[in-house]
Amino acid sequence: MATPDGRPFVVLGVSGGIAAYKAVELCRRLVDAGCHVAPVLTEHATRFVGELTFSALASEPAQTELYDAAAVIPHTRLGQSADLVIVAPATAHLLARYAAGMADDLLTATLLATRAPVLVAPAMHTEMWEQPSVVDNLALLRRRGVEIVEPAVGRLAGGDEGAGRLADPATIAEAALDLLGRRPADLAGRRVVISAGGTREPIDPVRFLTNRSSGKQGHALAAAAADRGASVVLVTTSALPAHAGVRTISVETAAQMHEAMTEAAQDADVVIMAAAVADFRPRDPESTKVKRELGAPEIILEPTPDILVDLVERRPAGQVVVGFAAETDHVLEHAAAKLERKGCDLLVVNDVSAPLVGFDHDTNAVHILSQDGTTVSVDLASKRAVADRILDRVMDHLNPSAEKDSR
Ligand code: C5P
Repeated sequence: MATPDGRPFVVLGVSGGIAAYKAVELCRRLVDAGCHVAPVLTEHATRFVGELTFSALASEPAQTELYDAAAVIPHTRLGQSADLVIVAPATAHLLARYAAGMADDLLTATLLATRAPVLVAPAMHTEMWEQPSVVDNLALLRRRGVEIVEPAVGRLAGGDEGAGRLADPATIAEAALDLLGRRPADLAGRRVVISAGGTREPIDPVRFLTNRSSGKQGHALAAAAADRGASVVLVTTSALPAHAGVRTISVETAAQMHEAMTEAAQDADVVIMAAAVADFRPRDPESTKVKRELGAPEIILEPTPDILVDLVERRPAGQVVVGFAAETDHVLEHAAAKLERKGCDLLVVNDVSAPLVGFDHDTNAVHILSQDGTTVSVDLASKRAVADRILDRVMDHLNPSAEKDSR
């Protein structure tokens, strides 16, 4: 619920870790970005940083008490008013209380009393970060739809080094603004065509060859592009719900995807081949079900068309074409070779052997390689956040004057 003057209402929860001082900077960034920020500190947080510091910078005084004489039930007001609740830093203890559904202080009670999206930025020592209990609590929160900004590797309290350092306040602020949908409509007026999911190549009427792709990254790209103002066509094999405003074309096979993509890409500004297209298909699929009693059939495969290469060859001037690659070893090396081979402008590669990356996960971590030789790496984040980073790179490649000239 935005404030009467239209600013998004953000509850900034701070729990008790040394990184609490960095939440001061996060608070300032959010206020500067036009948010109404209501800070909520746990009791332990107040040991690290004073309420007064937050009160001075935020849009309303910092709160710490579940029982407040002036506002009898502050957690419901905060929870119901919030457009977004952030917890930064989130300690292992806070994650455990939140995952368990406890409500024993103002911050956890607010987390329970809200329907707004929640963004959590954990920070703790590496030993704690790697504890199975912490890993499980975080996985549980992630499954429930909580957005996580992963900690970085770096210097920790007491001079130690390792994973668990709070993400940069600028990164957390950016993720928060993404969730609030406060990205510029930088793709307004652009036509974006995206493929998603794994193709299914029939062996007979009941069996097919396919792969592990879920279509989640492609659907997240379509949603992100639509939110940024693009007119989006999504060619997908997946039954995942499509975001409002996205035109969806359902396909099954590589051949159908080829046809739909070729047609849709003709007048597109951006084409993203996020689908996992089968490289081979049965050459002569049976028209009736293959019977077990006849013994194991010999299935002869033939290559499918490389849709991406074909789209690159046919593309109109100014169109930006993005390919994907899933790799398990020598990730950057193989990706660079693939970028060269396919001829697309950008290649998004993920190491599908890494935990929580790629197929069927709600999270991803990618490298975005460009023909200009630059590589941007995106650490583990939701597929939606990764989608926005990919679109940021696409924006860098869209050349408005060339685009106008080609019309
Ligand atoms: O060669 P590889 O399959 O690893 O390339 C992956 C990229 O090529 C993805 O963008 C995928 O959508 C695309 N591709 C394609 N047609 C194929 C195979 C892959 O467009 N037959």
